[in-house]
Amino acid sequence: MTPAGVSATAAPNEVSAEAGRRRTFAIIAHPDAGKTTLTEKLLLRGGAIQLAGAVRAKGNARRTRSDWMKIEQDRGISVATSVMTFERGGLIFNLLDTPGHEDFSEDTYRTLTAVDAAVMVLDAAKGIEAQTRKLFEVCRLRDIPIITFVNKMDREARDPFELIDEIEKTLALDAAPVAWPVGRASEFAGTWDMLARHFLPVDADDRSAITLSGPDDPKLAELVGAERAAALAEEVGLAEAACPEFDLEAFRQGTLTPVFFGSALRDFGIGHLLDGLARYAPPPQSRAADARPVEPGEPALTGFVFKVQANMDPNHRDRVAFVRLCSGRLVKGMRLKQVRTGKQVPVNAPLFFFAKDRQVAEEAWPGDVVGVANHGTLRIGDTLTEGEALNFRGVPSFAPEILRHVRLEDPMLAKKLKTALSQLAEEGVVQLFRPLDGSNPVVGVVGQLQLDVLQSRLKVEYGVPAGFDDTMWQMMRWVTPADPGSDRAALDRFATTNRRDAGEDHDGELVAFFGSDWRRKRAEEEWPMLRFHAVREQH
Ligand code: G4P
Repeated sequence: MTPAGVSATAAPNEVSAEAGRRRTFAIIAHPDAGKTTLTEKLLLRGGAIQLAGAVRAKGNARRTRSDWMKIEQDRGISVATSVMTFERGGLIFNLLDTPGHEDFSEDTYRTLTAVDAAVMVLDAAKGIEAQTRKLFEVCRLRDIPIITFVNKMDREARDPFELIDEIEKTLALDAAPVAWPVGRASEFAGTWDMLARHFLPVDADDRSAITLSGPDDPKLAELVGAERAAALAEEVGLAEAACPEFDLEAFRQGTLTPVFFGSALRDFGIGHLLDGLARYAPPPQSRAADARPVEPGEPALTGFVFKVQANMDPNHRDRVAFVRLCSGRLVKGMRLKQVRTGKQVPVNAPLFFFAKDRQVAEEAWPGDVVGVANHGTLRIGDTLTEGEALNFRGVPSFAPEILRHVRLEDPMLAKKLKTALSQLAEEGVVQLFRPLDGSNPVVGVVGQLQLDVLQSRLKVEYGVPAGFDDTMWQMMRWVTPADPGSDRAALDRFATTNRRDAGEDHDGELVAFFGSDWRRKRAEEEWPMLRFHAVREQH
């Protein structure tokens, strides 16, 4: 599937070795827990120093860098997912950033389908918060292994036992402390490494761990004072007796999380966390597809699109599909098969993303994420292969919680609006539904901010001023036959009977709209031969 002169197929052992060097992960956190600060510090450790400013940039600096989207300028928030790559100790880390704002959780959920592990950042004073929990649930759906980083230990924090207990109780996840804080808040002196059994003083770099015979070594009292040393010895004794031990197998299966303590702001505990990621987080694994599972070491390339982004760069009005590679090697100039349509997609200039900067990739391996520029051919959920007909599973769409009719200010622009909405729906900015009774198109979003983004982009990028009118619906569900073989007729009957409260999504799938949860439940009772879904896998 490559043009003459472009040799794509690498030896299987080379693919396995390269895949084995990859750690592809995301950070999940409730807003304000410290995700941005941690990202910056991880990149600094990984040698990607020039990026630190880009991540952290606030105010004017951030605005300049993100000026590709007007809404970002207006709101001063970042709504784009980017991919950051850094190297450390011979490993390649791909950090898939996710928008922090909760309105964009759908994007975040999809990004989580493209990672092999996640770092869950908790604010030491707050523990598990609403958004942490939601994101965790998505990780659980996919059994993504999670490393916990309890951040802000330099400030007033909750008792570590209490935090560990909360993780176990609220997330039903075993929590194994691999570090233990020495002292609290302004007295925070560093951490005790529960596995290597050494002391890591705060304000020391990665390599200045102090080896001791145990937490009760008299040397520790000299270093941090008798009181803190005694407290540590007692707590470590208790933790060893009461908390689960770290178990790699249980972690990889998603049933246990190792817990690190540190302070992103003080740049403390980051090296320890990175060592944990390197050692415990899995490289790309076998991935489920409809035809068969795909192994990362297979020589033929496979990958899937988990995000589509338009107009990342105002100078290139193209669309970029973010492709997570699952097997094989990608080289410039390859032609790949888009399995959904059977079309050939040329990959002439695959892009690596360094924050908002683009860089052309010469080659990429399983675990890497590359951007493929296209004119709208590639959609979220698409599988790309060198020719094999298989589809990766699991890139989800979530039933939107806000449904609005689109109101066009100028009827002459109807055709333009249709194109714009269709493109923005393919990009995943909104979901688009065509009511069966022919009324105005309906857009569905998870949060209000998404509507603002839609309105702004319609106007700025497509020159279509539009507004939104309320609908009488509060929720929608995808409708499928309970038994695909025999109940097709029931689906058609449902569509005919409910023309005013039904529509089609962007892929022509039947959806039902409901004015209340009570009505949804009633429909479920009335139509036992149908299923009503809040989540749909793409393709
Ligand atoms: P987010 O991306 O998860 O939303 O969090 P972010 O990193 O932006 O951090 C939120 C706030 O918490 C920031 O303060 C940041 O400086 C602070 N912070 C992050 N890590 C630590 C830590 O380890 N210790 C302490 N004490 N604070 C931490 P801010 O005042 O909102 O922003 P800024 O003015 O400091 O940039």
